[in-house]
Amino acid sequence: MPENGIYLTLEDIARNACIDEDVHSCPTKVITLENTLNGVIMPLREMKRIAAFARQHRIALHCDGARLWEASAAGAGSLVEFCSLCDTVSLCFSKGLGAPIGSILVGSSEIINRARWIRKSIGGGLRQAGVVAAPARVAVDETFGKGPNGEGGLLQDSHIVAKMIEDLWARFGGKVLYPVQTNMCWLDLKAAGCSTARFVELGQDAGLKLMGNRLVAHYQIAQNQDDVLQRLEQVFRRLWEEKAGQDTEEAIENSLYRNET
Ligand SMILES: Cc1ncc(COP(=O)(O)O)c(C=O)c1O
Repeated sequence: MPENGIYLTLEDIARNACIDEDVHSCPTKVITLENTLNGVIMPLREMKRIAAFARQHRIALHCDGARLWEASAAGAGSLVEFCSLCDTVSLCFSKGLGAPIGSILVGSSEIINRARWIRKSIGGGLRQAGVVAAPARVAVDETFGKGPNGEGGLLQDSHIVAKMIEDLWARFGGKVLYPVQTNMCWLDLKAAGCSTARFVELGQDAGLKLMGNRLVAHYQIAQNQDDVLQRLEQVFRRLWEEKAGQDTEEAIENSLYRNET
């Protein structure tokens, strides 16, 4: 866990990196970051500090940027700014971007040529790649948008919906586990006295397929936000009514117990 409880910092990494020249130790050769992680942005300034440290110690820097698009669309820095700090970055065309399949690896032509060889050697080559590339193009140009900050795209709408979900949850007294900075809202179900199984059931009753406490807003959810938010409100209302019932029962039990002693 990062010390600040939100995102990894240079201090977290430096504490765990092995950069001495002792022949008995195992020197750190690569640092791998994930941005966004749990929907939370690792700020550009922090990535710059980590990249400088990596360069200084000749450590390769990779970023799992499956959801890096979300950070850029949220205004945290352009794709170019984030990617230029790293030796390699992988980004997904699926997830919030909506393509059915596909990821891309970004790096120098030397690294990409080597990666192509490795991919082929482990059976990962795809000759008829057009069926994957076509939806990926739509995902980038239309969902993310044509600019490096997602200008003209659809992701920001999903971020607004994630915030609306947080606000709705907060109105009932709910707390979230991570700050809502992009398209994810992590409900603290435990503090709300609700099991995942019960939450899923309440979702089913309201016509929502929920999988757990991580609610991810897709751009198509943003396009149907009135309907989705109404159903979620129904789920949250029932959940908090049940919690109030549990709290009352507990209070009665406690007072009976006190009366007996
Ligand atoms: C953070 C993260 N990185 C990488 C991946 C892998 O993506 P792909 O299977 O498209 O390479 C996923 C997929 O779920 C992911 O969530």
